[in-house]
Parts: sequence; structure tokens; C-alpha cells
Amino acid sequence: MDPFDLPDLDPVPRLLLGPGPSPVHPRVMRAMAAPVVGHLDPQFLQLLDETRALLQFVFQTRNELTLTVSGTGTAGMEAALANLIEPGDAVLVGVNGYFGGRVADMAVRYGAEVRTLERPWGEVFDPAEFETALRQRPARVVVLIHAETSTGALQPGLADIARIVHEHGGLLVLDCVTSLGGLPVEVDAWGIDIAYSGTQKCLACPPGLAPVTVSTRARQAIQRRKTKTANWYLDLSAIERYWGPEHVYHHTAPISLHYGLREGLRLIVGEGLEARFARHRANAERLWAGLEAMGLALHVPVAHRLPSLTTVRVPVGVDEAAVRRRLLNDYHIEVGAGLGALKGQVWRIGLMGYGSQRQNVTLLLSALAEVLGR
Ligand SMILES: Cc1ncc(COP(=O)(O)O)c(C=O)c1O
Repeated sequence: MDPFDLPDLDPVPRLLLGPGPSPVHPRVMRAMAAPVVGHLDPQFLQLLDETRALLQFVFQTRNELTLTVSGTGTAGMEAALANLIEPGDAVLVGVNGYFGGRVADMAVRYGAEVRTLERPWGEVFDPAEFETALRQRPARVVVLIHAETSTGALQPGLADIARIVHEHGGLLVLDCVTSLGGLPVEVDAWGIDIAYSGTQKCLACPPGLAPVTVSTRARQAIQRRKTKTANWYLDLSAIERYWGPEHVYHHTAPISLHYGLREGLRLIVGEGLEARFARHRANAERLWAGLEAMGLALHVPVAHRLPSLTTVRVPVGVDEAAVRRRLLNDYHIEVGAGLGALKGQVWRIGLMGYGSQRQNVTLLLSALAEVLGR
């Protein structure tokens, strides 16, 4: 490879039906081609105000502290934990998949005394389990994954869990990376204290920004910290001063990604939340019916199945990696492999944002039928 004689970059377009990133809406791509202006340009500062209002709509919240942090979904996770946790704090994490495990590992690094509530991968928690766990030992922060992308399970009962956490004096953090913009995330109605997400799933944008919203209760907890937030880049109090009326420089905002997110959120407003959720649900149900008609088994029972991400059991005797390779090479369709405890056992099929379309379901089902010879 001669680095001074490289061809133009020309990746083959793929149909992204894996766990993310998901297909980017063409209107988002167009918005991202707009001229880059400065991060303190009044035009851009106005865009931040617009983005806050759009995010409040999608998160279904009136939280004033609603913004994005620069980075992928993990930056949202890191912002939530870094800003809430002080060394020695008790943190309870629901672990029923890979991302709950990531949260627990991260909380330890911020000095928390971490306890986990565990469930087999693919199952969800009963609110009563939190009552029992918190009665045994209170936790200042409780963290849950709303949509576990590693298992395809959707955590129900969040309003009940939030009530229990609050009764025990804690704060509830919810990972909405694979739910925001594709299924209901009712931050105020449920009583979530910090919710975070990523742009590359149901928001139909490229990866790179993490929306975050913080309740008044959590904001006060952050303001009352005795120690400085142990992450300079993701210090929400400092980022808030950039988004707020003072517009104090913190770091250079990724301008083009913000253009894209604004457009992605505008698309959601245009479609309407209910219509968007119904679309995600209807296409997921088409996919589930088609997979089952092919004789494939779905990993998660329908009651807790996530519309945005489906885990399909790999049939005995089938080389799961070879199937994914053929889908990619022969049909330009990307689906995901199993992660962690489900490695080698499932495929992960995402129908997120712009990817959640009827024709994509039909294409994937027929490609899979050809590859599997069913
Ligand atoms: C539920 C969940 N949380 C967190 C993340 C981390 O997001 P990212 O990979 O964008 O940093 C992901 C990514 O897939 C996810 O699915």
C-alpha cells in the first residue's frame, strides 16, 4: 500500500440491519454537508437551542438540562456515571446483558461500591427485585438498560422501578441507546433521573453524539457534589455553561454531527412519535413472523422482545459467521453476531430509525432464506 497513491474512498453501500450503526437518513446526510461554522457562531448557538427543544420532545421531558455530549453512546453512559458518582457511593446495576456489565465496570472506575442485580441474558427484571435489593442495602444510584442490544430484551415497569428507587433515596439512570426515537422513552412520566442515548440507532444519524437529559433532582445532586466530576471532558456542569446563555467555551462542538442530529430529530417531529413507534413495532412483527415461518427460533419471549433489535437463535449445525459473511458479501446486508454470553448462539438483527422499513424486512428474509436454503 502506497499512502501517497490511494484511490478515492468509495465504500460499497451496505444495508445496516445489525445492532448499529443503522442506515442514515438521506436528509441527515444532506444536512451534514452544510458549511461548517464556528462553535460560537450565533447561527450554531441557535441550533443548540433548537436541538435542546427537539431532544426534550423525543425524550418526552421538560428537563432544562437536556443536551448532547460529544462521543458515542458510551460517552452518554460515562457522563451519567461520572457526574453522579462520588468515591464510595453505593451503585446498583441491573445486569442482564453486555451493556449492564459495561456500566458496572465503569462505575467501579469512578470509585463506586458496585452491586449488581443479575438475570440471565434475554430476561428482564421485576420491579419487586429492586424493592428487595434496596431494602437490604440502599444505593445512591441505580442504573438499568432500557433496551439491551446484546440480548434483544426490553425492560418494562420503569415507572414502578423509578418510584421504588426514589422511595429508597436513590437516583435512576436509564440507558436508552437502542430505544430513543424508536420506542417510547417517557423520561418525565416514568421519573427517570438521567437518560442517555446515541445518535446511530433509532435516531437515523451517524455515530458521534450522545443525547443526555437530567432531572431537577439529579441536577441538584450534581450541584451538591463534594468532589469535582472525575471526567473533565464530560463534566455536565461545564458543558451546560456552553449550551446555556453564557456560551462559555468548553470544547469544539462537532458541528457537522450537530447538523445531522437536528435533521434527524426534525424527521421524528415530522413523522410523529406515535407513528414512529408504530412503524418500528409493525416492521419488527413482520420480521418476527417471517423468521418463525422459516423455522427459526427467537431468543426473547414476545412479551419482552425489543422491536428495534431481534436476537435469532442460530440453528444447530449452521456456521453463524459464514451466514453473516454471505449476507454481507452477496447481498450487502449487515447483521450482527452474538455478544458475550450469546456469542455464536444468535444473530442480532436491527430495525432502527431509517432502517425500519418494510422492504428491508422482505429483502433480509429472502436473503436469509436463500443463504440457509429454507
Ligand atoms: C444499550 C447500549 N448501551 C450503550 C452502547 C454503547 O454505545 P456506543 O457503542 O455508541 O458507544 C450501546 C452500543 O451498541 C448499546 O447498545
